[in-house]
Amino acid sequence: MPAIQDLYVQARAARENAYAPYSKFKVGAAVLGDNGKIYRGCNVENISYPCGTCAEESAIAAMIADNTRHIEAILIIADSKPLIRPCGACLQRIAEFALSHTRIYLADPEGIKQEFSLKDLLPSEFKAEELCK
Ligand code: THU
Repeated sequence: MPAIQDLYVQARAARENAYAPYSKFKVGAAVLGDNGKIYRGCNVENISYPCGTCAEESAIAAMIADNTRHIEAILIIADSKPLIRPCGACLQRIAEFALSHTRIYLADPEGIKQEFSLKDLLPSEFKAEELCK
């Protein structure tokens, strides 16, 4: 199983490739799938601003495209103070494929700075059991 430091290295590398000409705010993400593989992503902005995608979103999409359906851990990195946190939409995206105790690591270029559970950051996600029937 890769170490959390491997997630950091992958997310940092993905962040280098982020396309953020409008906000200038580059974000990288790395997801550890339950198959032991790391999937990375970065934010991809668009001149039509709402068309932009978040780093977490693209990392999760890469995991799904590889037919993996469970997130063991996720790390997000940006160069910001305060430290980046996943946006609300990305927390919901993470919740789709994770458990309440799944670890979320937050980092900046100096290293991994904070660790939360998904429940810490999203105490109550949107759920609709009836949609799953
Ligand atoms: N962004 C992410 O990639 N992930 C988040 O969780 C928060 C925000 C990106 C979207 C946009 O390209 C830039 O950061 C500024 O909002």
